[in-house]
Amino acid sequence: MKKTWWKESVVYQIYPRSFMDSNGDGIGDLNGITEKMDYLKELGIDVIWLSPVYQSPNADNGYDISDYQAIMEEFGTMEDFDRMLAAAHQRGIRLVMDLVVNHTSDEHAWFVESRKSRDNPYRDFYIWREGKDGKEPNNWGSCFSGSAWKYDPSTEMYYLHLFAEKQPDLNWDNPAVRDAVFEMMDWWCRKGIDGFRMDVISMISKDPALPDGKPNASGFGDYGPYAVNGPHVHEYLQEMNRRVLSRYDLMTVGECSGVTVEEAKKYANQDGSELNMVFQFEHMNLDGGESFKWNDRKIDLAELKKVLSRWQTELAGKAWNSLFWCNHDQPRIVSRLGDTSTREYWEASAKMLATCLHMMQGTPYVYQGEELGMTNVPFGNLSDFRDIESINAYHELTESGQIVPEEMMRYLRYKSRDNARTPMQWDDSENAGFTTGTPWIMVNPNYREINAREQMGREDSIFHYYQKLIRLRKEREIIPYGAYALLLPEDPDLFVYTRSLGDQKLLVICNFRKEEKNFVLPEPFDPEQAEVLIGNYGERRPERQMMLQAYEALVLLQ
Ligand code: GLC
Ligand code: CA
Repeated sequence: MKKTWWKESVVYQIYPRSFMDSNGDGIGDLNGITEKMDYLKELGIDVIWLSPVYQSPNADNGYDISDYQAIMEEFGTMEDFDRMLAAAHQRGIRLVMDLVVNHTSDEHAWFVESRKSRDNPYRDFYIWREGKDGKEPNNWGSCFSGSAWKYDPSTEMYYLHLFAEKQPDLNWDNPAVRDAVFEMMDWWCRKGIDGFRMDVISMISKDPALPDGKPNASGFGDYGPYAVNGPHVHEYLQEMNRRVLSRYDLMTVGECSGVTVEEAKKYANQDGSELNMVFQFEHMNLDGGESFKWNDRKIDLAELKKVLSRWQTELAGKAWNSLFWCNHDQPRIVSRLGDTSTREYWEASAKMLATCLHMMQGTPYVYQGEELGMTNVPFGNLSDFRDIESINAYHELTESGQIVPEEMMRYLRYKSRDNARTPMQWDDSENAGFTTGTPWIMVNPNYREINAREQMGREDSIFHYYQKLIRLRKEREIIPYGAYALLLPEDPDLFVYTRSLGDQKLLVICNFRKEEKNFVLPEPFDPEQAEVLIGNYGERRPERQMMLQAYEALVLLQ
């Protein structure tokens, strides 16, 4: 397998709005990130993925961009950006920007022009259609509730928005759109950034016939078959690669919801013709249901092992994957797959989950606060939420009578994206040390127990455990490059796998349960000779017959 820096790196995702507020307005900002650069250096990460910092009216917290070459005023200035980039580079940390080009904001100059008239030069930058019998051009539903079409009275046509109304989809079939996007990307590359995380990039190419989709629970049609992995997506990414990406030393990762293993082999092919890696959600969607993600079902461990293992083995030697439990769209993993019922279980399960992920093949992503075991948030009522997806879904599902309000609140507390978006917990001072003002979204009240200062001062903390996992990846080639094999596929409690490289073998043992569990060390591992690389129960030696503790994780090398 070809070796490259981005296969050996660990990425840290920053959600700028909630990371660190430097000027007391309650909103995180670029100078706040610069202030905390030494913290990231101490953790040992190699790459920052910065969620969008571009000018935006914030209908979707920056994922609705009105100017790709300006910084959001609340976050600072372009000079602040340059200083932050230099501060990262001085410490050997690379910076990957979020690239949101499936859609823009409706306040972007291109759209402002486009909606002016049917023959405006920018008209074809977006996807406009005539209505059908006085209704939407087709039955597609948007990801953020309601129809995916919005009627624009001034020109009496509809535009497509797969996300919010304020996020009109760009028309990638128009070569002028591709020119404009590639030109903008090139501008950022010349500035010295180190790559792109590409937002919903699997959705940029739509079937031009825009056929109706199969109606789902909400009554709207599923656009999936006509807009995800669409007809020209690979062609357009290859063009992007030829014209921009291949001219710089970048890390590129495509957010590919709805991607299959087969499709991923194209997006992230080893031949380097498209992107370096995919970021896919099959394992995270295992607790989805009929009303999409809105339920409080638990992920089944046997299913989880099957899905993660399939991605491990099928992509081996062919393509590259991202490893993640958390991002700004997911609830906190320790509340989802771990156990927050006692302090001991919280700490053990957070470390166990980290071990399980970081010992696999792929590039690991740590989402801000994950390295502290930050948890879901005890939101009170709907007014505590800020996320457009959560608020729209609440209205749609309760007003249509599909889900009763109390039940929906329970689902929001469990699954809302806002669980990941509350302020980073730096210390036990007011507002967790995030701001001296009023935070834009509530702080999780558990910041007095869970915060960076406490954990940095304690050798056996979750923070130091992540630090060690990150260091191990650099010290041991077997972690990025070893071949993966799953053991005990049917075991309902344990996730056990091996990695092999040359004559070395790594054994990763993770107990996903609160109960103790018997485990027999498999051949060829020898309890006397195996080296313990990491574990979450202090000084621990393996035995041939061993009793695993609740949420125990242990990694052996032989
Ligand atoms: C991606 C982002 C998400 C955003 C959506 C629309 O899924 O991660 O936060 O809302 O795209 O841009
Ligand atoms: Ca601020």
